[in-house]
Amino acid sequence: MAGYEYIELPIFEETALFARGVGESTDVVSKEMYTFQDRGERSVTLRPEGTAGVMRAVIEHGLDRGQLPTKLMYAGPCFRYERPQAGRYRQLQQMGVEAIGVDDPALDAEVVALADRCYKSVGLTGYRLEITSLGDSTCRPAYRQKLQEFLFALPLDEETRRRAEINPLRVLDDKRPEVQDMTADAPLMLDHLSPETQEHFETVTGLLDDMGVAYVINPRMVRGLDYYTKTCFEFVHDGLGAQSGIGGGGRYDGLMAQLGGQELSGIGFGLGIDRTLLALQAEQAETGGDTRRVDVFGVPMGSAAKRAIAVLINQLRSNGVSSDMSYGDRGLKGAMKGADRAHARFALILGDRELENGTIAVKDLAAQTQTDIDLAAVVQYLVDELG
Ligand code: HAM
Repeated sequence: MAGYEYIELPIFEETALFARGVGESTDVVSKEMYTFQDRGERSVTLRPEGTAGVMRAVIEHGLDRGQLPTKLMYAGPCFRYERPQAGRYRQLQQMGVEAIGVDDPALDAEVVALADRCYKSVGLTGYRLEITSLGDSTCRPAYRQKLQEFLFALPLDEETRRRAEINPLRVLDDKRPEVQDMTADAPLMLDHLSPETQEHFETVTGLLDDMGVAYVINPRMVRGLDYYTKTCFEFVHDGLGAQSGIGGGGRYDGLMAQLGGQELSGIGFGLGIDRTLLALQAEQAETGGDTRRVDVFGVPMGSAAKRAIAVLINQLRSNGVSSDMSYGDRGLKGAMKGADRAHARFALILGDRELENGTIAVKDLAAQTQTDIDLAAVVQYLVDELG
C-alpha cells in the first residue's frame, strides 16, 4: 500500500549482530536471548526482533544502493527468554516495517500513521499512541550527563544506581512509586533537544495533527532497545494488564553505520501480533462486538439437500460471501447450533419440501425471521442483503 516490499529474514543470526545492534545493556540482549553454539562452534541467536536482521540484510546485499528510502516489511516469530505471563511469550509474533536512508520527518509521520492504520484496519479502537523524541548525538550526551548528575544526588538503591550509570533514561521508567516520586522533577530529554531535533519533532507531530492521527506526548517513554534516536513511539492498550505495549518503533540514525554499513538513517515499527489479537478479544468481550466467523451457514436436511447446499455455498464464496455449512448429517437442532457457533447472520435451511418447490428457507438469525426465496435467486439475494 505504501511501497514497502516484503523481506523474508532468517530466524537466527550471529549473536554479535544483536549484541551490537540491539545493545549490550538492554534486557533483550543481556537476559533474554536464546543463544546457542552451532556445530561449527559459532554463537548464534534466535532473533529477538526484526530490525537488526533487516539492517544486516540491507548491508550484505546492497539493498541501499538504489532509490532511497529502501522500504521493507517483514513478519514472523521472534524469541525472547522472558518470564511467560498473559501477553508475554517466549515465542512472539511480530510484523514490522523499516524505511532506510532518508532522514525526513515526513517519513517518520508516514511510519507512525501506517502503524496506526494497521490497528484501525483490524477494528481496534481502545489504544493510545504515545510519542516523544530521544534526541540525537548532538544533544543526548549532554542531557544524559545532566540526568545522571540529578540521579546520583538521589538516595537510590544499589541496583537503580547501577542502572543510572549504564542507562539513566531507564530510571525514569521505573514503576515503583518511591522512585517515581524522587524523579518527578528530573530533567527531560524533550526540554533539552537541539534546535534541529526540536524542529524535527515538531514537524512530525504537526504532520500527525494534519493527518488526523491522535497521539499523546510522553516525555518519560523509554523503549527496551538501545538504537533509538529522535522520534520514538509506542502504541498502548489498556485492556491488556501489565503487558500493554501492542507495538512500537522509532528512528535509529546510527544503527547502519554501527553494523558496518553506510551512514544511513532509518525508521520503523514492530507490531506485536499476539498482543494486538488479545486487545481485539478484550474489546469484543466488552462490547459484545463482532465475533462473526462467517455470514452464511448452510443447514441441509437429507442427502439431496446436502448436495444442493454444497454447490450453493461454493457459489456464495465465488461471490465473496463468507459461508460454511453443517457437515456430518446432523439433525436440524444440531446443525442450527453450528450456525449459532459461527455467529452467522443467515442460516440457509433446505429440506425435501423446499427442494420440491425450488425454494430455500433463509433465516435471519439476529431478527429471528424466516423467508422462502427462489433457489435460483438466493445467491443474489444474500449478496444484496450483506452488501
Ligand atoms: P519492541 O517494542 O521490542 O520493538 O517489540 C514490538 C512489539 O512486540 C511490542 O510492542 C509487543 O507488542 C511485542 N512483543 C515484544 N515482546 C513480546 C513478548 N515477550 N510477548 C508478546 N509480545 C511481545 C521491536 O522489536 C523493534 N524491532 C521495533 C522497531 C522496528 N523499531 C524500529 N523498527
